[in-house]
Amino acid sequence: MSREPRKLLVTGGAGFIGSNFVHHWYSQYPGDRIVVLDALTYAGDRQTLADLEGKANLRFVQGDICDRSLVDTLLKEEAIDLLVHFAAESHVDRSILGPGAFVQTNVVGTFTLLEAFRQHWMLAEQPATYRFHHISTDEVYGSLEPDDPGFSEKTPYAPNSPYSASKAGSDHLVRAYHHTYGLPTLMTNCSNNYGPYHFPEKLIPLICINILMGKPLPVYGDGQNIRDWLYVGDHCSAVEAVIRQGTPGETYNIGGNNEVKNIELVEMLCELMNEMAPEIPVRPAQSLITFVKDRLGHDRRYAIDATKIRTELGWTPAETVEGGLRRTVAWYLNHQDWWQPLLSAEYQEYYRQVYS
Ligand code: NAD
Ligand code: TYD
Repeated sequence: MSREPRKLLVTGGAGFIGSNFVHHWYSQYPGDRIVVLDALTYAGDRQTLADLEGKANLRFVQGDICDRSLVDTLLKEEAIDLLVHFAAESHVDRSILGPGAFVQTNVVGTFTLLEAFRQHWMLAEQPATYRFHHISTDEVYGSLEPDDPGFSEKTPYAPNSPYSASKAGSDHLVRAYHHTYGLPTLMTNCSNNYGPYHFPEKLIPLICINILMGKPLPVYGDGQNIRDWLYVGDHCSAVEAVIRQGTPGETYNIGGNNEVKNIELVEMLCELMNEMAPEIPVRPAQSLITFVKDRLGHDRRYAIDATKIRTELGWTPAETVEGGLRRTVAWYLNHQDWWQPLLSAEYQEYYRQVYS
């Protein structure tokens, strides 16, 4: 069935999930206009979009979501009708070292976008088709006990880290803009993602890269913390389902039903690397596993109850954790040209601060 082309503003589109989303959306709807707004912080990299460079329907703008006049100009100039907001400071460990940037980007930045989009929507006489889609995380719900049910959309917020607290703040603003002004918002709270273009300091790429370099594999605390891992392509298809069919003002939790203990995940990655990377310097890779000092305030367990998105929108993940990890390891082995340049002096300094 034919549809009117949409005009998207994707914030954070040069980061991990944002760039996967831009690829996903472009492959589904090549006739849509996509404007990417990204500040290119340490976590943003234009190379994530290199294969789309030069496409007539894609525009990249380097800029800050806190820059109201820039956001106003883009919304107007490009007649944006769908804003998909991925931009954030996203790493818990960095939020422990320096929370200020998290409040600025995640809270003030989201507020700036909401205000700009509200004005833009009102000037256009509040079209029913406009959407402001806010990408959030399961971490706003806090930490689960071993036998607790997974987080549902009704679970009370209890963020424990400066990262999750700043995301919770942005979620509350989004909720309030729908409740107060009727802004057509959508919100998704997703579990841990993995896959291509994941920045090297996050657990899964870090383990693959350290194995290739014969470096210790740092596991925090006792390694028994649990995360619910979702392949990034499944996150993108879930966001698409919510944009297409979600009800304005609603929140949808997204998860893979793949709860894995950190130590088990690291062991799975070691097995895959033993099998898929013949030249690794230390074999078996498991011998590099090193338990290190725990993260401050480390949440024990996250798990998502994805009943709502499954029953209301018919979305289910396509990838298993075994299949997704294999694809991801293969991607990191084949894309050293992408991640090698990211192991910069700044990265080494960050690494020293967290692990020494
Ligand atoms: P990321 O850190 O890889 O990418 C963030 C992007 O935002 C980068 O390209 C960065 O340059 C950009 N950015 C940061 N500050 C900016 C600013 N002030 N203005 C404009 N651009 C800015 O993050 P990610 O892992 O891709 O996460 C994307 C979103 O998904 C975030 O909102 C995060 O909270 C959420 N999320 C992530 C996960 C996960 O497992 N990674 C899970 C659930 C939800
Ligand atoms: P991370 O990828 O930072 O995601 P989050 O903390 O947002 O869930 O970490 C995933 C899990 O892996 C988390 O429990 C912390 C743990 N972890 C380690 O054990 N060692 C590490 O070096 C890193 C980066 C994370």
